[in-house]
Amino acid sequence: MLFSVFDAKPYDIPGFEEAGARYGIDYRFYETRLTPQTASLAKGSDGVVLFVNDILNAEVAEQLCSYGIKFAALRCAGFNNVDLRAVKGKITVVRVPAYSPSAVAEHAFALLLTLCRRTHKAYLRTREFNFSLAGLTGIGLKGKTAGVVGTGRIGREFAAVAAGFGMRVIACDPFPDLSSGLCYCPTEELFARSDILSLHCPLTAQTRHLVNAASIRGMKRGAILINTSRGGLVDSAALLEGIRSGWLGGACLDVYEEETDLFFEDLSDKLIRDELLTSLISMPNVLVTSHQAFLTDEALRSIAETTAENIAEFFGCGRCRNEVTARED
Ligand code: NAI
Repeated sequence: MLFSVFDAKPYDIPGFEEAGARYGIDYRFYETRLTPQTASLAKGSDGVVLFVNDILNAEVAEQLCSYGIKFAALRCAGFNNVDLRAVKGKITVVRVPAYSPSAVAEHAFALLLTLCRRTHKAYLRTREFNFSLAGLTGIGLKGKTAGVVGTGRIGREFAAVAAGFGMRVIACDPFPDLSSGLCYCPTEELFARSDILSLHCPLTAQTRHLVNAASIRGMKRGAILINTSRGGLVDSAALLEGIRSGWLGGACLDVYEEETDLFFEDLSDKLIRDELLTSLISMPNVLVTSHQAFLTDEALRSIAETTAENIAEFFGCGRCRNEVTARED
């Protein structure tokens, strides 16, 4: 079996080759993303392996079908980049529902601790033997309220880490996990009470711009927003205004609404025309990482293993337990 892996980075390849060899799967790796312009690269393969910014819409599905390809394996948990209604009945889409929820929760805390304790500034200073503490006063976490939006796999891990720091944890979720012992409240109340608000829900039509001008006004003054979920959950212009006005105390962003053409690439010698992003990055109390929360050795191994399992299961019996259907969207 041969599969075309789009948006493949050097760190993806060893894990995929190793897991593929165990399952009798060969991979052809492409650096480029799947788009209507690149879909023809998949010709001759049994399926495609996609990441968060590959596009699988009606046009791409049509092209893939014309090459006899009816299977797409997402090597991620989120599937908002797939038009499930458009591909229904044409392409079977599977995903890796969980690979390392703790990796994302830990990264959210890495960002939060950096922002709160200014370690990024201190690191740069001491490298130049500048041992001054001026401007490095931090914000403590113990006793603060952490609001968790979405208590699925990652949200629950985040809540556990927050509790370990001695934070009060509150949460909202339309499907609360009643066995978790978490204290749930309505979304508006959560926004109003949280010192730290961390987003862990999927991006859907209902959650797009969950953080907007009105909901930011409903947040506590000085609150810090963490988004390691999907960029579209936050109205970036409203966030920038919230930061500029001083209403928000800071933001930790691993995802960005318009990240598709920017993240995962080295653009250090290019002119970035996205003024919203450049303004956000220039704020002293905003930290941006480029969708790296998942990126640990453990997660990469788990992604490659589950993708190979998904492929073997589907091509073995015509079904896969990790299939994503339009109903879930
Ligand atoms: P999950 O499916 O286990 O949990 C999502 C939870 O959000 C569910 O409990 C669901 O009921 C809840 N939810 C849905 N709508 C909501 C709403 N309006 N308000 C509050 N809660 C709501 O998903 P998991 O594995 O915890 O992942 C969460 C998100 O993290 C994914 O959707 C994905 O977008 C993102 N992610 C980001 C990564 C990164 O590298 N930055 C890596 C992996 C996932």
